[in-house]
Amino acid sequence: MKRLPAFGDPGVLKKLEKIAEKDLDPQSGKLFGHVYNARLFDLLEVARKAYLMFMDKTMLDFTIYPSILAMENEIVAMTASLLGGDENVAGNFTYGGTESIMLAVKAAREKFRREKDGVPEIVLPLTAHPAFIKAAAYLGLKVVRTRIDEKFRADPDSIAEAINEKTAIVVCSAPNYPFGCVDDVKSVAEVTEGKVWLHVDACMGGFILPFLKRLGEKITDFDFSIDGVFSISADLHKYGYAPRGASVILYRNPELRRGHIFVNASWPGYPMVNTAVLSTRSAGTLAASYAVMHYLGEEGYLKLSEKVLRARKRIERYLNDMGFEVLGIPEAGIISFTSSKVNVFKLAKLMAERMWYIQVQPGSKKLGFPKSIHLTVNPYHDEVVDQFLKDLGECSERAGKPTEIDESRVLELISSLKAERGRLPDLEFVNELIHVMDPDFVEEMLLNFVNDYIFR
Ligand SMILES: Cc1ncc(COP(=O)(O)O)c(C=O)c1O
Repeated sequence: MKRLPAFGDPGVLKKLEKIAEKDLDPQSGKLFGHVYNARLFDLLEVARKAYLMFMDKTMLDFTIYPSILAMENEIVAMTASLLGGDENVAGNFTYGGTESIMLAVKAAREKFRREKDGVPEIVLPLTAHPAFIKAAAYLGLKVVRTRIDEKFRADPDSIAEAINEKTAIVVCSAPNYPFGCVDDVKSVAEVTEGKVWLHVDACMGGFILPFLKRLGEKITDFDFSIDGVFSISADLHKYGYAPRGASVILYRNPELRRGHIFVNASWPGYPMVNTAVLSTRSAGTLAASYAVMHYLGEEGYLKLSEKVLRARKRIERYLNDMGFEVLGIPEAGIISFTSSKVNVFKLAKLMAERMWYIQVQPGSKKLGFPKSIHLTVNPYHDEVVDQFLKDLGECSERAGKPTEIDESRVLELISSLKAERGRLPDLEFVNELIHVMDPDFVEEMLLNFVNDYIFR
């Protein structure tokens, strides 16, 4: 058993440094996933100071910290204006995309319950983020999956087939995470006709697509300028360049937001009024987001978006020239690719030896998605793209041809996956398994693995 140490451990910061020794460095410019690096040191400084200034204040009680209400309302108003909203748009700051999505699904569910009986349904294209499935699981909605088209966008016909009187919410992505493609929200809105709740998940695109459009890029319409859009999620901790724990959820009007809010007065304590899933939480990321938005302003976001665009286009050209297949039409900061000649999982492993993180997407044979590599491009990549492409080329030559696990040996192989507690198994192998197995089987396997081995 591990006991608590003695009071005031003076060496704890050194211990933390040691614990982090094997971590990749998010400031290195070498990660093409999970990192949104503006490469502006003053911005980082401002965000960190703002975070510390408000770290000890809770967002739970906006009656004792007027600053929190002021910052949240201003952030929501700025985000609404960016996303085609007007004065009627209502919204809140949350701790991330998943929380924003959870709240939108709850608001849609409450509207459904006010109007209808039965189990509400969520219509979800296969490329939508799993946060919606999580929300459905938490909130008791039935998930109805819909097809995507050959460009990896939601298929409006499939959505039309899926909608029925039990549909509480339909989801589009702007863009989707796996391929960076923006769904044809206008066509989907023609199907939902302003009668069915249409949520646009702009967690990835909310703070970059509007700026790319201003830079002259052809961007598929996705925001409140489309009549049938009821709600939009947009993450500040992605291309908003705020620290982790920052997102915005917007509704076309306050009436639609009603079901998002939780209130309770049936106890002797303070009346609980929550505009988020979490209750007590630090105002640090709110303040840092406020600071980042003010520091960057329109001009800053435009400049950073331009860098992302330049790097993404360089990579896209290179991949096409080298015979890789870029999947769909990337419109934001994400680009994904596959190959019939190169083992992309091996490629990721070889790139990791050179300290590059490129994200493996196992895809799914059963669902018809190829194995692929996902790149979330950030502004810093504009500076390192030459070296990145050089390494990518060299590693591709050594990666060998694609392979596939023999399905008949899968059970035997799984039992040979012996992980020690707290240690990860061989991820290349796990991804190969995920690619060939049925998703239900994979989910069971992952759950067992995480529960039995990875976490205590
Ligand atoms: C399109 C999309 N939606 C939702 C999410 C979930 O966001 P978070 O990880 O902040 O909860 C992500 C995360 O990558 C995303 O890409």
